[in-house]
Amino acid sequence: MKVIRTAGELREVMNEARAKGLGIGLVPTMGALHAGHISLMERARRENDIVVASVFVNPTQFNNPEDLRTYPRTEEADCLKLEQAGVDYAFIPTVEEVYPEPDTRQFDLGPVAEVMEGAMRPGHFNGVAQIVSKLFAMVAPHRAYFGEKDFQQIAVIRRMVQLEGFDIDIIACPICREADGLALSSRNVRLTPEGRKYAPAIHRILEESCAMVPSADIGQVKNFVTRSINAVPTLEVEYFEIADALTMQTAESWDSAGGTVGCITVYCGDVRLIDNIIYTKATR
Ligand code: PAF
Repeated sequence: MKVIRTAGELREVMNEARAKGLGIGLVPTMGALHAGHISLMERARRENDIVVASVFVNPTQFNNPEDLRTYPRTEEADCLKLEQAGVDYAFIPTVEEVYPEPDTRQFDLGPVAEVMEGAMRPGHFNGVAQIVSKLFAMVAPHRAYFGEKDFQQIAVIRRMVQLEGFDIDIIACPICREADGLALSSRNVRLTPEGRKYAPAIHRILEESCAMVPSADIGQVKNFVTRSINAVPTLEVEYFEIADALTMQTAESWDSAGGTVGCITVYCGDVRLIDNIIYTKATR
């Protein structure tokens, strides 16, 4: 695996690959890699001739300076994992390399970016659109891979791709979980032993809520999930929304056109955890 640190070299290597007719897969990450990221690399490996992974803690998507400061940075371990996963190129730039000048672009991301994470973290999705569009322009991949744990992020990226006219397939990959159901996240390393013990309740309660769907309405399921999780020591729900899985707008019924997804963020002490569940027709 080759580590690339400049945009110029990345463009050069990718131009050569495209000129040879090779299929390119990109996996954007912020590092602190875990098995969830590696599953994205492995899928990209199976579906492309060349796999590029980026490792960059993007400052423009953090609306909380403390969160940016404490975000885990583990470059050496990340490189080992990328190499083992069969990645060809790791793009690991500095902030100055990516943003030689402040990025002042404001994307018209529309309603999909205004709710849930968009409402809680002003500017977050614009920052995601900035970095992902830069990576897409540098790499010009055929396919880009994102984890469904950040369900709304995928919808926002699809909107950005449409706005910018990128010809890139956005591949959404399933959430990876610990054996006890906790969604894998780079932030999990910051959980206290007590927090780690209780955090799997988030997924367990979301799963339990699926069984309510035949008889309960959306409001009842929202109440059940919020009350049950808040009753678990160390956990506090920030929001739980049941949304149309395409538009991300509040679902009015279980028959929402895009399907229904329950999106949640929960504070476990000072660690903000995110998860979701698809309420499929099969659960009804
Ligand atoms: O999901 C993430 O890790 C980040 O938001 C991404 C897509 C790599 C952009 O920085």
